[in-house]
Order: sequence, then C-alpha cells, then structure tokens
Amino acid sequence: MIPRETINQILETARIEDVVSEFVTLRKRGSNLWGVCPFHKEKTPSFAVNPARNIFKCFGCGKAGDSARFIMEHERYSYPEALRYLAKKYGIKIEEREQTPEELAAQNERERMFNINSFAQDYFSNVMMTSDEGQSVGLAYFHERGFRDAIINRFQLGYCPNSGSAFTEYAMQHGYDKDLLIKVGLTGSYENRLYDRYQGRVIFPIHNLTGKVIGFGGRILTKEKTKAKYVNSPESEIYNKSQTLYGIFFARNEISRLDNCILVEGYADVLSMHQAGIENVVASSGTSLTTEQIRMISRYTKNITMLYDGDAAGIHAALRGTNMILEEGMNVRIVVLPPEDDPDTFVQNNPIEYVTKYLTENARDFIGFKTNLLLKDAQNDPIKRATVIKDIVETISVIPDPIYRATYIKECSRTLEMPEQTLTNEVNKILRAKYRKQLGLDPGQDSSYLSYQTYQSYQPSAPEQPVEKDSTPLGFFQEQELVKLLLSHGSDIVEIDDKDENGNDTVLNVTIASLIIDDLKNDGLLFRDETHKKIFDAFDRGLDTGILPTAQDFTSSEDQDVAVLSANLLSTQYKLDDWQRHRIVVKTEDDVLKKTVLTTILRFKDMVIDDRRTAITKELQSCTDPDDQIILLQKKKKLDEIRTRINRDLGIVITK
Ligand code: CTP
Ligand code: MN
Repeated sequence: MIPRETINQILETARIEDVVSEFVTLRKRGSNLWGVCPFHKEKTPSFAVNPARNIFKCFGCGKAGDSARFIMEHERYSYPEALRYLAKKYGIKIEEREQTPEELAAQNERERMFNINSFAQDYFSNVMMTSDEGQSVGLAYFHERGFRDAIINRFQLGYCPNSGSAFTEYAMQHGYDKDLLIKVGLTGSYENRLYDRYQGRVIFPIHNLTGKVIGFGGRILTKEKTKAKYVNSPESEIYNKSQTLYGIFFARNEISRLDNCILVEGYADVLSMHQAGIENVVASSGTSLTTEQIRMISRYTKNITMLYDGDAAGIHAALRGTNMILEEGMNVRIVVLPPEDDPDTFVQNNPIEYVTKYLTENARDFIGFKTNLLLKDAQNDPIKRATVIKDIVETISVIPDPIYRATYIKECSRTLEMPEQTLTNEVNKILRAKYRKQLGLDPGQDSSYLSYQTYQSYQPSAPEQPVEKDSTPLGFFQEQELVKLLLSHGSDIVEIDDKDENGNDTVLNVTIASLIIDDLKNDGLLFRDETHKKIFDAFDRGLDTGILPTAQDFTSSEDQDVAVLSANLLSTQYKLDDWQRHRIVVKTEDDVLKKTVLTTILRFKDMVIDDRRTAITKELQSCTDPDDQIILLQKKKKLDEIRTRINRDLGIVITK
C-alpha cells in the first residue's frame, strides 16, 4: 500500500510534459504542448499537454488525465504500478504501509519466488549464449528453427544443461532455498536426490503482464516418445496457468494499438509471429481458453482473431472455447491456415506481405464460420440439420448484447434458410430458461410470471422498433456546466446582495462552490449523473470542513471516472457567457462569473422541472382514476408556477 501523502508527492513532482515527452514528441503552441496521440491513429496532432494544469487530453480520442493516468494507459499498468514507475523516475522513495506479519510472510515468499525465477532465467540464458553445450545444443536448436538472436534475447529464451543437477547446485551455492526451488518447479526431488527438472531442454520463460518471470516451459530436443514434449512450471502463488497468456507482456501495447488480439496455440507460434513483426499475438499454451484469459485480453481490446492450424484438430480446437469468448461480449474472428501449416511454419515460410494479406482476407466472423462448417457436415440430412440449428441458436444465445444477437439471427436465418422469427423464438426460449435457472425456478415452465423488466432485457432488440434518438437525460448538459464551473471556479469568491438580520441591504462574500451547492441543496435538487454527483459531494464536504478541493484533487483522483471527466472538462476552456453580445453591461470579471453561475443554476433547474413536467404529462395520459388526475394536475400547476418564477429570475439576473 502506498500512503496517500506519497501519492500526492509523486503526482506533484511528476511534470506531465516531462512524463509524456518520453513517449511522444511535443511542440509548443499557445499555452499547450501538442503531439501525435499515442492512443489512436492520427496524422495531425490533436494530443494536448497542459503544463499549468498538469494534465493531458487528446481531442481526437478523448483520453485525458494526469501523469499516472498517462502511464497507466500507455504502459497498461495498474494504478500502483504507474505510481511506482513515476516514483522511480523522480527518485521518490515509497515507504509502503506496514504490513501484517502474515502479509509480510506471504509477500516475502512471493518476492523470493520471483527472485529465484529471475535468477534461473539469467542462468539459462547465459548457459545458452556462452557455454559450449548451450551453444551447440540449445542455441543451435533455436537457430535451426529459424529464430534469430533478437527474438531469442527479447523473449529471454535459454537452455538448461543436460547434467543432472548443475543448475540446482549452482542456485544453492548462491543461497537460494531448496524448498522454494522445488516449489517453483525448477528442481525436482527423487528419493532425497535433487535434480534439474528442465535438464537438457530449451527454456521458454513465461512473463506476467509486468514482465516478471512467473514460470517456464522446457521443450525436449529429441523425438523420444517416452518423455514429455514440454515440462512446465507447477501452479504456485506466482504461477496460475489459467490466468496466464504466453507473450502478453510483449504483445499488450500492440494489441491495444491495433485493437485486436491474435490468438495462437504454442510458444513457437508466438515467437515466429513476433519475429515477423506481427506483435499483437499471444498463446493460450495448448489448453482451451479460460474466462480469466479472455478477461485479460478484454482489458486491451474487444476483438480476438483466432489463428488455427488448417487440420481437423485445429478447426475443432477453434470451435472449442469460443462460446465462452462470445459470452464475455468479445467479437471473435477466425482464420484457418492452409491444411499443412501452423502459425509458426506459415509465417516462417511466407513473405510477410502475403501473411498479412492472408490474415485480412481470411478472417471470418465466428458464427458464420461455424454455421457453414456444420452445415457442410450435415449435408442434406434433416436430423443433422436440426442439430446444427440447435447448436447455432445456443451459440447466439450466449452473446450478451441484444443488438449483436439480432444481427447474427438475421445472418443465420439466411444461411440456415430459416425464418428469422423462428430463430428469435428459439433464442428467447433458451434465454428465458437460463434466467429461470438463475432464479432457481424450474427452467422448463413457461415464462409467464417473469418480471416484465427481466423479460424485456432478454428480448433481442427488434430492428423495427424505433431507437430512441437521444438517450442523454434532460438536464445532463446543464449539470455538466455546473460541474465545470465548480472545477474551474469553485473557490473563487464573489459578492452577492443579501439582507442582514434587521432587513438592511448588505453584501456577502461567498465562494462559487457554496453559491451552487447551497442553492441546489435548498431546492432539494441533486445531480443524477454518478460522476457529477461524486464531484458535487466532494465540494459539499469541502464546504463543511472549510477546505475546498482543488482541480488537481480531481484530475489525480483514484476514481478513474472522476479523473477522466475532470481532466476533460478542465481542458475545454470554460466559455463564460457573452453578456456584451446581449447588450448587457457587466462591470467586472466577477460580475460575469456571478451572472454565469446564476443563469446556469437556473437553466439547470428549468430542465429538471421540465423533465418532471413531462413525466407528469405522461402519467396523466394513462391515468383513469379521477382523484389521481386531480393530484397530478395540481402537481403540474405547481411546476408551472416554479417555471414562471425561474424565468422571471433569469430575466432579473440577465438585466440586473
Ligand atoms: N504444450 C504443453 N505440454 C505438452 C504439449 C504442449 O504445455 N506436452 C503446450 C505448449 O505451450 C505448446 C502448446 O501446448 O507451445 C502447443 O503444443 P504444440 O503445438 O505441440 O507445441 P509447439 O510449441 O508448437 O511445439 P513445436 O512447434 O516445437 O512442435
Ligand atoms: Mn508448433
């Protein structure tokens, strides 16, 4: 845990222009520095760095935030990782919060396991590059498979000598603990004798998201059938196979930049693709994909392209696990390679232009691919066809987004030659059954007493239904204007007219924050947008304690939504109302600000009232009970009165 004071110190020390310019070339124009955005493709710079506010914002893709946010986005770090990065850059020492003895013990053990792995990786690489055996056996093997030194070094490949326990002894001489060596799977023990588990094998270190070695795969060099082709690290506190993707550390930036992740099966496939310059590639390491792996990918992109061998086994591997990807709301495409190839051989044996062309031209949408494949198998057998339809319908039903579901239903109705409505009905049947099961009801029964709402949420959105033009709630922009005023002028002080206890005119000095917050709270009006509300609350607390938050408190907030929104709002210059244009005399800057705040509040209230009025009008239309009608009409009248008052106030503010 990094203490809050240290976090503040880091964020205050880290100059945004300094942090960004390590990755982006910046040029000064006006008060900002500009560069080509690293987060989306563009030719003309729309990425701005504002040194005064210590924030960045891209006017092209909308990404915005402070130094920590920039590092998180750019390096795909977590928040603490980004802070540590910045602390290191600026030589700030992080005194972590003291941990409990249990935490400490666990932490130490993990730390020590990472250390052992890093030591071992170093050893295996050195042995391969410098020893006779390493060069003539290990390195020669990799060279023969077409891997050049650049890729060998980047992925830190290595070789473990074929001599019993050479590594284990070397490690123990260097003070590494026997039990931990066994625990991470570098060392095995048989009848009290220790041996190297990877002896005589080439080594593929497995890295986690931040580049630490969490495990190893060791491949045999011979074709002996009696020994396993791969020896892998056992599961441990630092290695969980189902949560690991081989190559993710080297691929994550490209996955995010290209907004696509290519998925292959093996270590060799990843290496060959990267070597050819296709770097958005990771491997599931031979097993079918897990939900955790899919979620890891979905941090970077919603698009997966599965690249599989052209043989029957490859195609079946492709079909497995895909429902799970769809279930996570990802878009899946499939590329089937020529029958004799796997990704490794395909990319090694063909020019890169051909490979990229092949990938784009042969990427097929997964459901379409599956439908065609199964249909081909079924031929004209009506029973088999029925099974195929069932299978496809099942697959469509796992897609969470109703719009995508509807699209697929439409498409499959064409390929399957089935009426769209029939498919829709089938999909809905499955969804309802699933939902009933979740509720613990018998999935077989009719859905008659499912709530209207849940039923609605499982309806595929019929394309005929009119889509709501604008789903932004009424008053949202006025809310946002007020938030903007709070952020940029919250602690500014203005004079307002008031009466003292004797009813005499007097002048009161108030902050903009209290002007806005107190007024809204008086009328029981609250912001409806969650993020707006958080900023509102922070000022509200600030008024209570007498210490108002600063803009930096928000742009550096740990709350991602707050940080991004405030950086965004602060980047767009607040345009104070142009009173001169309305031929209204303003005496001072303060006057402008005050008028702007008051009119914005009134406009916000006007919108809220308008919204309530619309709701009542709607209610009136469907209301048949005369008593209720009277109540509603009274409410409406009251709102109209308030509205008139607001408009009168607006007039007063404007002309005063
Ligand atoms: N795998 C494994 N243990 C095995 C076999 C396979 O862990 N006994 C995993 C490895 O991650 C391997 C992947 O499954 O990379 C794919 O298997 P395979 O295609 O057999 O391995 P490749 O790495 O492609 O091996 P090569 O091309 O060298 O034959
Ligand atoms: Mn292979």
